[in-house]
Amino acid sequence: MTKLSLQKVSVAFGGLKALEDVTMSVPAGEIRGVIGPNGAGKTTLLNVVTGVNQPDTGDVQLDGASIRGLKTSQIAARGLGRTFQTSKMFKGMTVLENVMTGLHGFLKAEPWTAALNFKRVRDEERDAAAKSRAILDFVGMRQFEDYDASDLSFGQQRVIEIARALIGEPKVLLLDEPAVGLSAVRVDELDRLLRRIRDEKGVTIVMIEHVVQLVMGVCDRITVLNSGRVIAEGGAEDVARHPAVVEAYLGRAIGAAAAAGAGHA
Ligand SMILES: Nc1ncnc2c1ncn2[C@@H]1O[C@H](COP(=O)(O)OP(=O)(O)OP(=O)(O)O)[C@@H](O)[C@H]1O
Ligand SMILES: [Mg+2]
Repeated sequence: MTKLSLQKVSVAFGGLKALEDVTMSVPAGEIRGVIGPNGAGKTTLLNVVTGVNQPDTGDVQLDGASIRGLKTSQIAARGLGRTFQTSKMFKGMTVLENVMTGLHGFLKAEPWTAALNFKRVRDEERDAAAKSRAILDFVGMRQFEDYDASDLSFGQQRVIEIARALIGEPKVLLLDEPAVGLSAVRVDELDRLLRRIRDEKGVTIVMIEHVVQLVMGVCDRITVLNSGRVIAEGGAEDVARHPAVVEAYLGRAIGAAAAAGAGHA
């Protein structure tokens, strides 16, 4: 059964085509990787699914029903959770409170509105703290509930961000580079956590990731984007050998080497 699908989705920013004719179908219970060079359109893909960006053409469907044109809060309420490429932890709030801001309606496109709303609705959410503790137990971070979020290590903060996305009990979890900057040990822990989220909570996962160890190890299938287009899709080994993927990444490596060389000149 298809959980999440994009059909011929295009998004342009002025003359720049960030996504072009992107079609992608993620079955229920899958962990899907999305990879591609910088600027390939990966984050835009998550933004178009969560209603942050609107598709110029095409459709986005969750459980076979279109979610195109809905607000981010409406899409969250239908069962989509996400984390962001850059950390969105609220300093000056405890770990427990940070996770609570992930309840439906709190965390919208602009996370600072969530921080403002948080105080107003705190009293109405009588079970929010209990839910937050249960999620912290699940991710193995309960002992840190009273810490100021900014006192946690970078890797721990990334886990709390996942906990915050989980508290809304999403059916689909979208992760934007959850492993960036993590040590190999932390990447292993994240690998196990993602499998438990899928297996114990029945959540379908779409994960943008550059860390090859995680993508190749945990993803059932991988979709490769380059310049806004899907250039390959399949299992890890097939994708790694695909000529268009090799070319896209080789081009990038050569570009990076040239830039480094220019920097030294
Ligand atoms: N709001 C925006 N306004 C204008 N251009 C944008 C906007 N968002 C993204 N872009 C452009 O669209 C293209 C795709 O960006 P996107 O952030 O989706 O790439 P990405 O694959 O996530 O890259 P990275 O690996 O660097 O995170 C880039 O050229 C980017 O500069
Ligand atoms: Mg990105």
